[in-house]
Amino acid sequence: MMIFSTSLTAEKTRRIFMVFFVLASLLPFLLIIFVIFQYVLPLLAPDQINSLREIFAYSLMAALLIPLLSFFLMSRWIGSLEALTEDVKSKSAQIYKEEKEFKEENEILTLIRYFDAIFQTATDHLAEQKHLKELLSSLIAVAYDLTAELDFDRLFPLIIGKVTEAMSAERTSLYIIDWERHELWTKVAEQVEQIRLPLGKGISGRVAESGEMLNVADAWELPYFDRTFDREHQFRTRSVLCMPIKNHVGEKIGILQVINKKGKERFDSEDEIFLKALTSQVGIALENSLLIEELLLSFNSSIRTLSAMVDARHPLTAGHSQRVTDYSLLIAREMGLSKDEVETLKYAAILHDIGKIGIRDAILLKNGQFTPEERAEMNTHPVKTKAILDKFHFPKGMQEVPDIAVHHHEKVNGQGYPDGLTGDQLPLGSKIMTVADVFDALTSRRDYPKYASGETLNGDPMPLPMAISILKKEAGTHFDPDVVAAFLSCLPQALLLYRGDHFPPEYVDDMIRSLAPDLLP
Ligand SMILES: [Fe+2]
Ligand SMILES: [Fe+2]
Repeated sequence: MMIFSTSLTAEKTRRIFMVFFVLASLLPFLLIIFVIFQYVLPLLAPDQINSLREIFAYSLMAALLIPLLSFFLMSRWIGSLEALTEDVKSKSAQIYKEEKEFKEENEILTLIRYFDAIFQTATDHLAEQKHLKELLSSLIAVAYDLTAELDFDRLFPLIIGKVTEAMSAERTSLYIIDWERHELWTKVAEQVEQIRLPLGKGISGRVAESGEMLNVADAWELPYFDRTFDREHQFRTRSVLCMPIKNHVGEKIGILQVINKKGKERFDSEDEIFLKALTSQVGIALENSLLIEELLLSFNSSIRTLSAMVDARHPLTAGHSQRVTDYSLLIAREMGLSKDEVETLKYAAILHDIGKIGIRDAILLKNGQFTPEERAEMNTHPVKTKAILDKFHFPKGMQEVPDIAVHHHEKVNGQGYPDGLTGDQLPLGSKIMTVADVFDALTSRRDYPKYASGETLNGDPMPLPMAISILKKEAGTHFDPDVVAAFLSCLPQALLLYRGDHFPPEYVDDMIRSLAPDLLP
């Protein structure tokens, strides 16, 4: 529309120009004609007038031709000018268009940059989500492993291992708070003894007291940091993240401390969040485990009380069941029994004579030898033990306790009671208890005479060498030879357990000195 109206204006201008040009060109000639007709012709002769007319006609023609020719030439010139103008306009339009396109291209670039930024942000978010997913998976896996382990002794190193791995740390320390003693305690793998620290001292002690998390890049810069461990173990503690472990009601029960973040200067805010999540899982696992430990302690003390009540019925059997248990456990460890087998044996040994609760006082407390009837009644105590223990609910994996306890008076040659089982039919736990039970009966005072090598002794403890010779002599008939060998291997430890208590030092020292002189104080 704009181009059309521009062309129309140009055409009109050209016509106006043409009219004015012709008129301007003719005006001098018309003036000359007017002067000639008015002033010259009246003065001339007729033949001169004709000649003048011819000159005038030729001049007029020339005068007409010149404007036309000029007009033609001017038109061409104006055409060129218009073409040039159009060209300039066209070029201008092109430049404008290019500029516009350039601007548009610039906007596209900006748009691309925006998209690139959005894409980068989305990629970052995806990477972050992936990382968070990995952390969450790791947390769930750790939580699952920790809550599945209820045994405190196994849980402790499990927590340390899992947290060290999950936090990418070089070391982890786990402390339990003992509020009664105002101390923290921890265990080092394979070491039975606890390491104890006063509350309020060092990093862990301070965090335990304040309940506030501590995150430092270099522990050595803290004036209260104890460098003893570093010096003794050629270790350099740098970054430390330390947090309190709380139970389900928010009470502080322990401290979790991760040391030296791998690949980084220090633990960051993400580590803090992750360790906080971990400590809540550790808190649940520890609380469950400690609760079970408490229940187990309560269960064990009930059983010991029950066993002690039976032993206490006769003044000479006091402490018998506990000693049989301790000797049995020494043998079991010497023979490499599993933890569950040892636990089962422990309950069987502590309760092995509980059936005596069903034996009349007249027989149980009789001073002297039994009649055959009395002996028969006395020999029912293992079956009574089993009947009582069958009513107990023992922890999982310890259902064999009654069967092991009932056979503590069996002999490997099948001459024992109540079932006359032979060595290959007897549970190993029963064969271990048999050796422990007889050894304690021989080395304790009894109100019936003892017999050795055909001689009748009194009821006093049998001299140790004599008791040991009986064990050796009856290995293969009464006792399992492997169990006797295992017991003799740990005999110094067994004697040391009750030296100064059940055993007077003069009773055991020669034997301990001959077998393991280093053990004597
Ligand atoms: Fe017994
Ligand atoms: Fe016994």
